[in-house]
Amino acid sequence: MQKQISISYDEFSSLEELSSKDRELLEKATQSAQNAYAPYSKFCVGAALRLSNGLIILGNNQENAAFPSGLCAERVAVFSAGANYPNMPIETLAITAHSTLTPVDHPIAPCGACRQSLIEYEHKYKQKIRIILRGHTGKIAIFDGIESLLPFQFGSDELGL
Ligand code: THU
Repeated sequence: MQKQISISYDEFSSLEELSSKDRELLEKATQSAQNAYAPYSKFCVGAALRLSNGLIILGNNQENAAFPSGLCAERVAVFSAGANYPNMPIETLAITAHSTLTPVDHPIAPCGACRQSLIEYEHKYKQKIRIILRGHTGKIAIFDGIESLLPFQFGSDELGL
């Protein structure tokens, strides 16, 4: 039997179409991308997340000469939130990127490892994390939770603890 999964998301053509809270978050992510440390890839990613108490936490990618030692913007942001506000659910995460090597004119989706990390916090707080994606230019995509980006999930339930 063949089964199908479909996902839905909202697409917007410009910042002006977003709510003021979402626009602010995406603007903060864009500012955060300016502080990325990406001397190797030149691909600068910015992330900004809003906690349920309204606080905004920023992250950007931090690269390393020993390549695997670097970390993506999304995980810098969610780990910072987890470290500093351990009991505060994450409501929304905005992600954007720019590069000096290539135009980034479409939404940049989080890598697999970041999706897995985001799932952990959805499970921890039993609350979906809205995800706003945008390239440096172009359309904006909004997902109402990480399940849309990673429908088959591995979580602590599987561990039988
Ligand atoms: N990167 C992120 O920050 N987030 C992602 O989800 C994808 C990739 C970073 C890692 C590395 O510093 C650069 O982008 C190129 O892969």
